Amino acid sequence: MTDNALDRLTLAERAALTSGESLWRTQAIERAGIPSITLSDGPHGVRRQPDDGDHLGVGHSTPATCFPPAVGLGSSWDPELVRRVGEALGRESRAMDVQVLLGPGVNIKRSPLCGRNFEYFSEDPRLSGVLGAALVLGIQSQGVGAAVKHFAANNQETDRMRVSAEVDERTLREIYLPAFQHVVTVAKPWMVMSAYNRVNGVYASEHPWLLTEVLRDEWGFRGVVVSDWGAVDDRVAALWAGLDLEMPTSGRASDASVVKAVEAGALDQELLDASAARVLALVARAQPGEGTFDAGAHHRLAREVAGQCAVLLKNDGVLPLGFQDSVAVVGELARTPRYQGAGSSHIVPTRLDDVLTEMRALAGRELEYAPGYRLGDAGRSPELEEEARAVAARATTTVVCLGLPAEDEGEGYDRTHLELPDNQRALLDVVAATGTRVVVVLSNGGVVRVADWDGAASAVLEGWLLGQAGGGAIADILYGEVNPSGRLAETIPLRLEDTASYLDFPGELGTVRYTEGVFVGYRYHDALDAAVSYPFGHGLSYTEFGYSDLDVHTRGSGEELVVRVSVRITNLGDRAGQEVAQVYVAAPSNDVRRPARELRAFRKVTLEPGASTTVRFYLAFRDFAYFHPVRRRWTIDPGTATIHVGASSRDLRVAATLVLEGSKRPVPAAITPDSSLADWLAAPGGLDVLQREMRPPAETGQSHSRFLTEPALRMAGSVPVRRLARFPGAYLDPERLDKLADEVNERAGW
Ligand code: BGC
Repeated sequence: MTDNALDRLTLAERAALTSGESLWRTQAIERAGIPSITLSDGPHGVRRQPDDGDHLGVGHSTPATCFPPAVGLGSSWDPELVRRVGEALGRESRAMDVQVLLGPGVNIKRSPLCGRNFEYFSEDPRLSGVLGAALVLGIQSQGVGAAVKHFAANNQETDRMRVSAEVDERTLREIYLPAFQHVVTVAKPWMVMSAYNRVNGVYASEHPWLLTEVLRDEWGFRGVVVSDWGAVDDRVAALWAGLDLEMPTSGRASDASVVKAVEAGALDQELLDASAARVLALVARAQPGEGTFDAGAHHRLAREVAGQCAVLLKNDGVLPLGFQDSVAVVGELARTPRYQGAGSSHIVPTRLDDVLTEMRALAGRELEYAPGYRLGDAGRSPELEEEARAVAARATTTVVCLGLPAEDEGEGYDRTHLELPDNQRALLDVVAATGTRVVVVLSNGGVVRVADWDGAASAVLEGWLLGQAGGGAIADILYGEVNPSGRLAETIPLRLEDTASYLDFPGELGTVRYTEGVFVGYRYHDALDAAVSYPFGHGLSYTEFGYSDLDVHTRGSGEELVVRVSVRITNLGDRAGQEVAQVYVAAPSNDVRRPARELRAFRKVTLEPGASTTVRFYLAFRDFAYFHPVRRRWTIDPGTATIHVGASSRDLRVAATLVLEGSKRPVPAAITPDSSLADWLAAPGGLDVLQREMRPPAETGQSHSRFLTEPALRMAGSVPVRRLARFPGAYLDPERLDKLADEVNERAGW
């Protein structure tokens, strides 16, 4: 293919380039030597299917390593680790002749009920963006493209192909877009996948503001925008808005409609050409399949990674277990792992480890086991419970594996509650009543409520969904072979009713209003200072860390502001471990309500016992700014900002303040007769002019109208001056208002 490949194509061929040939392939133009390329799900493994497969995760695909889904990776808080996963995904894609892997998903977990939360990293945009970028960089380092998805505001599954997410611009800019922006600008993904839903009434795949103004003009995206599978409603509108490639194939009729639109002058050919050229550039950079991958090495990597993702929520000292300890294992999930979610991301794994086998392997002996409940059947079973009770009664410690059955969460539908199945809850009580020490291990893609039972457990390990080697990783952590270092990427609330979007999820009558605005996840709980079960950023280790020597150094101001934050982290215990230092910024604002503090940077460090290290972070303008809804630009207000560094959004260890100058205020709009009295008075010279004009007759003995004196001024400040002039006692001539406004504007230099 040469640079002018486009010139040699007919109009029909150009149109053909902008839609798929099959479920997973783009159209080849053989006459012109343009091959087709293969796109595959993703993203925590390669889901390579035959061309006539399905995109629902139902049919077969070639075995590939199933790494922890994003819910797991998100909890690692470790971009280096995520990048290594990306590299492995890239290698497997190459080996399976896949040119673009469809991921990562960086949508924000707006509600814990979203059925697809297991495919997303976090409730926080910074964490999602940094980890998403790391995965893209890893994948693309192998010559394979990534497609960051689902752009944008795809935060629920209910009615996902039609629902309109009604979100104000500030909320989009501060919460739902930054992860995409970070990935696009830092990792330069080959593709962006547009979402199914509408955003403020317009389909995301036909949204010129999202796909062209924001994505290309503001963020400089140069790659291909692909539709989610079947997301295009009107092909011509989509091309016009900036969508380059419709997937999967929608048949030749759709291409013909594009040709017709160009011929009829309804679609500018330049737009079609620009999209076709971008697809050509994508095809040109795509690499043919090559090599094989080492399934054993990738399985070991999957285990290492999973070990960094599980989050130790609670531990009274029962963990780590000793190899000789009297330990029993209970729960069907111990031998039938739940390790990924259902839907298009479903991977056929190369191997599958379970907790029970791996614990026995590490302990080097049999451990007593009872399944305790059936999966996929929430009913209680007296026989299974009795068997579990007997097993637990004989053990000093019982590991109880609980979690969500596969059908409780998946792509295409949302959850309706946060509870564990009844039979699992009952089993926990039965086991705890024996007096054994209870260690709960959870497997779930979305948050489950723990508040009514975690008091009965000595330890709780939140395993999320950890991929095919998760069983081994859990065993490693339980026996102390690995020191847990995962941190919560989402809050575990006390109750579903406590979550910010509770009243507006999943919406009604085709619309979901994001009424909570920027107060999503911990931003909401922290604004209320409300109790939660476990806060964002929380996670225990088998050692302890100290924070000291916080130093904040500022250079420049306004958009040039750079703040260097350094802090010393010390491993205070007698075991090597990893800490995630989290930087939260509380910044002032005059015009809008802001979260109490927001995560702006983080770093995972490994420290030997007694060792310490100084971690440095660099913050910039955007880390202190908010998106001003009226001025429609990022703004810093003057005042004092606080920088907190700590181990969770609620465990802030050290803090420092700095004084911010604030962005330049734009020149105010000129005064008119309809401006309020307060606006007139705020204009330099406005008071003089009004005092001169608003003159009562001499017999009143007043020097000027009472409206210009306190407390009337306080009450009348919002009255437009044109209307004020009509009030008795204003003594203002309505006929002179235009002239007076000119005079004020002139004096103020406006
Ligand atoms: C999902 C995408 C996926 C695509 C292809 C859609 O249903 O939303 O995430 O990449 O199918 O399978």
